[in-house]
Amino acid sequence: MCGIFGYVTDKEEALGPILIAAAERLTYRGYDSVGAATIHHGKIDLRKDTGKVGEVAAKYNIAEMRGQRGITQLRWATFGEPSQVNSQPHLDSDGDMVGAHNGNVVNNVELREQFMAEGMTVRSQNDGETCVHAVERYINKGYQFIDAIRLAYGDLQGDYTFVIGRADDDKLYAFKKGSGMVVGLGEGFTCVSSDLPSILPLTRNVIRPQDGEIVTLWADRVEVRSVKDGKLIDRQPELVTETMDAVQKGGYPHFMLKEIHEQAQVARELLHLLDGSPDVAPLVEKMKKARHLYLIGCGTSYHAASVGAVYFAQLAGRAAIPVLAPQFIAQYAPAVGHEDVGIFVSQSGETKDVLNALEAAEKHGMACFGLANVVGSTLTKATSFCLPLCCGYEISVPATKTFTNQVVTFLYLAYRLAGKDTAELARIPDLMDQTLDMVGPQIEAIAKDINTWNDMYCLGYGATYPIALEGALKLKEITYAHCEGMLSTEFKHGPLSAVSQGYPILFAAGPEDVPLIISGINEVKVRGARTIVIAQEDPRLRANGDDLVALPPTDPQVNALLAVLPLQLLSYHMSVMRGFDPDFPRNLSKTLTVD
Ligand code: M6R
Repeated sequence: MCGIFGYVTDKEEALGPILIAAAERLTYRGYDSVGAATIHHGKIDLRKDTGKVGEVAAKYNIAEMRGQRGITQLRWATFGEPSQVNSQPHLDSDGDMVGAHNGNVVNNVELREQFMAEGMTVRSQNDGETCVHAVERYINKGYQFIDAIRLAYGDLQGDYTFVIGRADDDKLYAFKKGSGMVVGLGEGFTCVSSDLPSILPLTRNVIRPQDGEIVTLWADRVEVRSVKDGKLIDRQPELVTETMDAVQKGGYPHFMLKEIHEQAQVARELLHLLDGSPDVAPLVEKMKKARHLYLIGCGTSYHAASVGAVYFAQLAGRAAIPVLAPQFIAQYAPAVGHEDVGIFVSQSGETKDVLNALEAAEKHGMACFGLANVVGSTLTKATSFCLPLCCGYEISVPATKTFTNQVVTFLYLAYRLAGKDTAELARIPDLMDQTLDMVGPQIEAIAKDINTWNDMYCLGYGATYPIALEGALKLKEITYAHCEGMLSTEFKHGPLSAVSQGYPILFAAGPEDVPLIISGINEVKVRGARTIVIAQEDPRLRANGDDLVALPPTDPQVNALLAVLPLQLLSYHMSVMRGFDPDFPRNLSKTLTVD
């Protein structure tokens, strides 16, 4: 998730230190490249590269940059590898406009081709540059700057926030489409950013523009206009009173809760990205033709792979083998060849177990592709191509938004394999938000009820089986209680003997599996278990289970995705009630680069 910051002042000053400090305060969003541009006596000074803020600032002496307007950007690569040329900000063809964005322009590839055909100088693969040329196109046609921006907005599809300035102008302009933007008003300056932390130490007086609005920033005032008709919009400033820590957590007490609530938005952005990705079609073709298809990962990423395998079979009749990465080496690598395809799944792209499996697969000539959140990570570089998960930085050690975006990617690929219309998936983000709204208070009450137990089970069937495994992993990871995830039908083959009065058993159920789940519920209920069922509203489940945590009605595949949300919330609340920090559970690390 990139971050941008723009600053306009009424006097020429040392902007470098202001831009570096703002960039530092955006680093928690995750990034691989840093850039800064200032506008000084009608000239643009642009310095940028891959690396940490401190490294790039030192290498290019950003601290010495002066001017009256400045832009800094932290890039988290999605379009184009992390490199100096793909770093932001970007110039237009003549070098007299400079701009940067955060988010994704999903028709980037088509627009770049159009701009090159129109004779513009396109230097990078990055979609931030596309935003600049989108404005340049209309300037070349003779439009006023603000109208050129309005027209560019219409051409740039996706979710993003963009800031741009011209060498011969005393203002900056910014617009917002589906991604965060905050404007700050200070003494003798104004600023704009992707979010509050970069602004707060400068001013607590802010305006929050909405999607479809353009902001013009002068040093002493700002103007908000509608993209649609160019008319002025009255947006009054508000005073922010929260602490910096609370602001970084988006007002949530922990990053995990913030990330749980970001899931709908990142799913929305991912779906847009997949619609525009040139890598999807070749990957689907390879998957179709593969002799065997392996989905390889560890921990939460393995669970997402396992959901994916169910989706591929149920929707497209394509068998896939989900496998834990180290076991792939022992069980499958000796038998694979160039006719086989592997998709390696990882949030970090640095998990050693996954990279070892990749190496073993490549030795045997298997076609290897990736699915990773951290673009520029080893996995993204070592595979033929790697689809980005598009989640931004996941700070909390327990994976939440990266899991759901892995599952959404697999569902998208299953639709493509089946020749189904992926437009149907656009409903998912709203259903995710609806689920969180519906289950919130009930899950908190259940957490309170069962929190004295240090042992429990989480059961599922079909697409909800890996969801039960994932729920159990989350519970173990941050409550330190033992929770075993299992296929519901297996419970009677042994674990049933563990049940005693009040013993908590969670069921994640699909709409087509209700009769089967009811048998499972009654098997344990008659032996005293407390049964908590996560499923769509169903009178039979309500009559049989102790608690029904109702999900919005949908198909079995999306139902499985939604079912993980209450389990994430349950583990979060139980962890907090136990006095633990869910973001940083003991003994664990976010990235496991050891065998
Ligand atoms: O970065 P990866 O997805 O490769 O990490 C794999 C596991 O270590 C990870 O999913 C782990 O299980 C999660 N922290 C669980 O929430």
